[in-house]
Amino acid sequence: MKRDKLPIAVFVSGRGTNLQSIIDAIEAGRLDAEIRLVVSNRSKAPALQRCERHGIPYEVIPSKKFETPEKWGEALIEAVKRSGAELVVLAGFMKVVPANFIEAFKNRIVNIHPSLLPAFKGLEAQRQAFDYGVKLTGCTVHLVTPELDSGPIIAQAVVPVLPNDTPETLAARILEHEHRIYPQVVQWFAEGRVRVDGNKVWVDGARYGTLPFNPELEKF
Ligand code: GRF
Repeated sequence: MKRDKLPIAVFVSGRGTNLQSIIDAIEAGRLDAEIRLVVSNRSKAPALQRCERHGIPYEVIPSKKFETPEKWGEALIEAVKRSGAELVVLAGFMKVVPANFIEAFKNRIVNIHPSLLPAFKGLEAQRQAFDYGVKLTGCTVHLVTPELDSGPIIAQAVVPVLPNDTPETLAARILEHEHRIYPQVVQWFAEGRVRVDGNKVWVDGARYGTLPFNPELEKF
């Protein structure tokens, strides 16, 4: 069932190219979402300049300002609730999200990770994959659960490692696919097509039936 304008919150810490891909998809009319709020834990995140340019409201909520992760989590919950966002999109948010926040928005927080999970969790996943010598890597959009980079997988894109790659060229190619699949996944949420069944996520669609991997990804 298609619905109009899913209200979302995007969490960032850095340059914000994934945030930009979501902004671009909205502005191009490919994504029926509205960014109600961007949250950054860093006041100097370049991503915030993108908010300024596009007139998107943002708040800086650094974990350091709070005595405990729980208190920080409460502030995050409060900010997202106030914004009216129904989906939280982590886009390069470099802090572990507090447990109370995850509980408050169960199955409504998504993250993008630059590897084919469950391989290469944690930091510098592209370099980990490069150093390991895998021939295929990619990116994964998944639901956020308390265990880092381990929640149910919604979508993945495969990127080959080429003979002349460096960790940097590989990361840049993976990023292009991140920018393609992340807005597509948010659009699936906007269309109310995402169904979670244990650790499996299904995307319902009249055209392709119910698939864990969806050919629409190739076209978005
Ligand atoms: C991306 O590689 C994403 O997969 C990871 O953090 C990076 C964020 O980049 N979670 P950007 O800030 O969206 O440019």
